Amino acid sequence: MPKRNVAVFGAGYIGLVTSACLAELGHTVTVRDIQPERIRILCAGDIPIFEPGLGDMISRNKERLSFTLDAGEAVRDAEVVYVCVNTPPMASGDADLSRVWAVVNALKESARLSAVVVKSTVPVGTGTRIRAALDAAGLEHVGYASNPEFTAEGKAVQDFMRPDRVVVGTADDATAALLTELHAGVDGPVEVMDVASAEMVKMAANALLATKISFTNEIATMCEATGADITQVTKAIGMDHRLGPHFMNAGLGYGGSCFPKDSRALRAMASNAGYPFQLITAVIDVNELQPRRAIQRLKTRLEGLRGKRIALLGMTFKAGTDDMREAPSTTVASRLLAEGAQVRCWDPLAQPRDEEPWSSTERRATPVEAMAGADAAMIVTEWPELREVPWGEALAGMARPVLFDGRNLLDPQAMSKLGFTYLSVGRGT
Ligand code: UGA
Repeated sequence: MPKRNVAVFGAGYIGLVTSACLAELGHTVTVRDIQPERIRILCAGDIPIFEPGLGDMISRNKERLSFTLDAGEAVRDAEVVYVCVNTPPMASGDADLSRVWAVVNALKESARLSAVVVKSTVPVGTGTRIRAALDAAGLEHVGYASNPEFTAEGKAVQDFMRPDRVVVGTADDATAALLTELHAGVDGPVEVMDVASAEMVKMAANALLATKISFTNEIATMCEATGADITQVTKAIGMDHRLGPHFMNAGLGYGGSCFPKDSRALRAMASNAGYPFQLITAVIDVNELQPRRAIQRLKTRLEGLRGKRIALLGMTFKAGTDDMREAPSTTVASRLLAEGAQVRCWDPLAQPRDEEPWSSTERRATPVEAMAGADAAMIVTEWPELREVPWGEALAGMARPVLFDGRNLLDPQAMSKLGFTYLSVGRGT
């Protein structure tokens, strides 16, 4: 298979993983970002994000990877331009596409350029508008493809190289063939479809995963009301191959840079189309309620939160990442502070910015130190390290024995036996 010259716009999670993996497949990749600091770090041989396996992959392919601030330099020899810039939500919930358009509008006539590929998550219909803009700019001969990303943070490299499927949405056979060829060496099927369908697959897949989580969280609430155990319920539900076992961990709700943003974008897109998407609205509402319900339960158990010392164990939006974007811990910490509690936290990787609520909390190096003198501790992120905590020692240092396991990480019986007043999500405790 021929190796191609590729320009990737955006050196965030998606852009860097895409670039490293395309280089691993043998292609030559120039990565362009608008942030000088990001490019400086990459040129110095470091990586600006935490993602297992990514640094090694970038360094072993360094002769095929270059990094630049200069858009012109990135596209000069490019046969394929990948758009991997972020599409953050605006106040309305609609995705802000200004960065995508900045890339598309900067593309000039080039003899070598064969295809523009959008990986950024965009509302359905964006590809049609980009196609029209390319045509108007005299780039009719350049193919267009939507190639949405399904990688999850923490295992993005593996998800790219061994995906369940690669989705390619395009109107022309030559671009479908080019994209299929670019992915030669990736261990997964390539599904070719029209552009709008590819855009919809991305939005619908994330929405369905978010729905599974909110549904599980509501069943967990019903378990609390009826004495059933959500972990036993979801284990048996997941054995039905039509439903599958994944994304049914009850907890404090989903966070991160994708599900909250994408579910709101789907709701906004439906509303713009004149259709009130009731199910996604409920999914969002349930997710926003989930950390608030947990705080309410803690408040009831502690008979008020004013002046209480609470240890938060885990801050990132999930384990295995340093990412704090839309982390449920931020809602939890904000509400605890608003109720007058003092908050101490522990996390092995999080680097929250020096702003509220984190500027009003104290950080400790270990879970046991965070729990010293606390009236209650709350597990917010499912860090595996928390299974190894010397819980007896931690309990001995606490002012009161209350532990709220917001991710159902620990064994209720074992924790009760140690002497904890143990609360969790949907397990009758
Ligand atoms: C998610 C999707 O899983 C990827 O397929 C997609 O490519 C990506 O968004 C994206 O759109 O770019 P990610 O945000 O990295 O990936 O994280 P997930 O592992 O999916 O977790 C999202 C949130 O759901 C986390 O806060 C996690 O704690 C929560 N979650 C997940 C639950 O509360 N329960 C579960 O059972 C599973």
